Parts: sequence; structure tokens; C-alpha cells
Amino acid sequence: MAYGFEYYSPTKVVFGKGVEEKTGRYIQAHGGKKVLIVYGGKSAQRSGILDRVKASLEAEGIQHTELGGVVPNPRLDKVYDGIRIGQAEHIDFLLAIGGGSAIDTAKAIAYGLAEPEHDVWELYEHTRTAQKCLPVASVLTIAAAGSETSKGSVITNEKTGQKRAYDDNLARPKFAIMNPKYTETLPDYQTQSGCVDIMMHTMERYFTNGGNMELTDAIAEGLLRTVMHNAKILHRDPGNYDARAEIMWAGSLAHNDLTGCGNDGGDFMSHKLEHELGGMFDVTHGAGLAAIWPSWARYVYQECMPRFVRFAIQVMQVTPGATDAETALQGISAMEDFYHSIGMPINLKELGIQPTDEQIAELAEGCIAACGSKTGSAKALSLSDMIAIYQNAR
Ligand code: NZQ
Ligand code: ZN
Repeated sequence: MAYGFEYYSPTKVVFGKGVEEKTGRYIQAHGGKKVLIVYGGKSAQRSGILDRVKASLEAEGIQHTELGGVVPNPRLDKVYDGIRIGQAEHIDFLLAIGGGSAIDTAKAIAYGLAEPEHDVWELYEHTRTAQKCLPVASVLTIAAAGSETSKGSVITNEKTGQKRAYDDNLARPKFAIMNPKYTETLPDYQTQSGCVDIMMHTMERYFTNGGNMELTDAIAEGLLRTVMHNAKILHRDPGNYDARAEIMWAGSLAHNDLTGCGNDGGDFMSHKLEHELGGMFDVTHGAGLAAIWPSWARYVYQECMPRFVRFAIQVMQVTPGATDAETALQGISAMEDFYHSIGMPINLKELGIQPTDEQIAELAEGCIAACGSKTGSAKALSLSDMIAIYQNAR
């Protein structure tokens, strides 16, 4: 039976070739007068998108200043830098150019500037909730995290190695400028990690024991099949614009909560387990998810059997086996085959890390602390469950 829900997805999506030229107009429509542009390493400069966006701001008479150098698994120190610049420059609008790391940094700076009397990290430690946030928008250059339409923001405290998420509708971006053409410069590993992340945002909402709707399932299954099909196309033909467009749109729909309407809020334990890996080993988020999911799935499937059977048949298109367990396991194996087919890892060794028993204990303790308590819908995981999943993933 479907649960009741609130669906709130206020982000305007501006999609297609050349849309970055409208950025200034949309900022003006939202009252932005002094913009902090937040971006990562060199990709935004190299592709020319940074200059094109700046030109569009200047055409509207919008003042701007910059904060570059955001790294993947973005750091708290960079957020503090942004807050300092934002205060000095009287910034009233945050514009990220890039992916989840730039957008999440912009969201964190926006929280920090709106409530300068508090340390922004408290939000990520969940010791308080935000009351205000400056407006945020993005020019997306990688389809992956879905931060362009999500309420989430994930920051790593480099001093403690903690990678923590804070979710709040206050930070839902005002608009997202999405030109798939700009994702063509991504290395294949990043493209495919992005595809895994997009799929996982839908799968984390799919494997639940609470509430389902046929329409939501159909959207989720269609999205997963579409991403798998186009990920394979991009693996051999990275310049395929149409495939890039399918993946980019899927990335936003996968994480704006659409594929969770009617359920109990989802599971998200693969994400929680992966965030600890990101904090300790600085792995690429999507690849980390591919490496942990098979171990999680084999650990929990018996307690969420109807969903794993449906997934095997509707998404992985396996022929049902003699028993439900057989069908479910075939579905998990088929997903591993798919990950391999796009160059993604299916365990920690393939991911390039070999955590010791002590490190696994630390990862699991970090994960349970981030969750607050035993968490998960497919199966609620305790500390010992988490340790077992990490161990089985080695
Ligand atoms: O720094 P630059 O030079 O821009 O290079 C980036 C970076 O190295 C590169 N890149 C981006 N666009 C490119 C490009 N390279 C060539 N051409 C382009 N067009 O890609 C690398 C990865 O960028 P990043 O922003 O880190 O990727 P992604 O979008 O996957 O974001 C990952 C972060 O988002 C978090 C993850 O945990 C991770 O920290 N997440 C955020 C969520 C949210 N806010 O809702 C949800 C997700 O589950 C996720 O946890
Ligand atoms: Zn993710």
C-alpha cells in the first residue's frame, strides 16, 4: 500500500544546447546582485563554460567573484573560505559550476552566510537545523549526484575524516542550467561513476519494506533501464549527445525524490556505507557505491525478497528461477555483470582499497554514528551488520 507523501521539487530546469547563456537572466529573476561562483579544478576553465557563464552575468550587470579549487569529496575548509569571501564581498547568491562537489560546497556556504553566528559544520553533525539559507543555483557539468535538484549537501571534514550529509529543503536550488554537451569532456570513469550514482539514488528508494506505488515503480524501473542502456552507449561512444542528455535528465529525476513517492523514505544504507569510504579513502562516490552494493544486496535480500525479485525481472530482465531466492540472486549477479561491462568495480579490491579489520571497525563505527542508530528499510543494519557488509565486500 502507498504511504502518503509530500513531493517538493521547486528547481527550475533549463535544459539543452546553449542554455548556459541564460544564467545571468535567471539569477536576475531571483534577485541576485552579487554572486559567488563556486567551481572545482580545471574542467570549468578548460571547457570555456566558466567564461561563458561570467559573460552572461556581465550582460545582465550582475557583479561576481569566484571560489575555485573545490575537490571531489569536498572539504569543509573550502566552505569556510567561501563564507569568509562571501561576508567580505556581501554575496547574496551562490552559483556552482560543476557537479555534486561544487554544488554541495555552494549549499554549505549559503547556509554559513545566512546564519554567520553559527558554525556551519553543526548542521552536518546534526546538532542543529538550519533556519535560513541564501539562494543557490547551478550550471551542471557532470550528471551524477543529483545535487542540482536535491535537498542534500555532503561535506568532508578533512580534520576528522568524517564525510557527512545534511538534507534540508532550504537549499533546494532555484534553477539548474543543464547543457549535456558540457559533459562530453568527462573521463569515462567519471561518466560511469555518475551513472552508478544515478541508479543508486533510485535503487535506494526502490529496495524498501514500506509502501510502494505502481506508478513510482514504473518510473524507477524505466529510469534504471534507460541509464543502463545509455551508460553502455557512452562507454563506447562518449561523444553521443543524445545518450548524454538521457543520463543528465535521469540524474536530476533520480534524486529530486520523484522515485520515492509513496514509500517509507527509502533505505540509503549503501550510500551511508560508501560515505565512510569516501571520508577515509577519498574514493569516487559512484565507484564506491558499485563496490559496496553487491555485498549489501546479498546481505539483505532475504528480508526484502519481493522487491529483489521484482528488480531482477523488471530491471535486470532475468528469467525467473525455481525459487524467489534464486531469482533475486540472479538479479544481483546481473547487476554485477552490468557494472563490469561499464568498467565499474564490484568489490573493494577492484575499487583499489584493502581496508584492514581495524579500518573496517572504524568505518562501521563512523557509519552507525552518522545514522544515529540501527537504520535501513530493506533491513535495519546494526554495527555488526555493517562490519559484515564491509568484510564481505573485500
Ligand atoms: O574539479 P574539476 O576539474 O571540475 O573536475 C571534476 C572532478 O574531478 C570532474 N568534472 C566535472 N565536470 C567535468 C569534469 N571533468 C571533465 N569535464 C567535465 N564536464 O569530475 C570530477 C568529479 O566531480 P564531482 O563534482 O565530485 O562529481 P559528482 O557530481 O559525482 O559529485 C560527487 C559528490 O557529491 C556527493 C558525493 O558524496 C560526492 O561528494 N553527493 C551529493 C549528493 C547531494 N548533494 O544530493 C547526493 C549524492 O548521493 C552524493 O553523496
Ligand atoms: Zn549518491
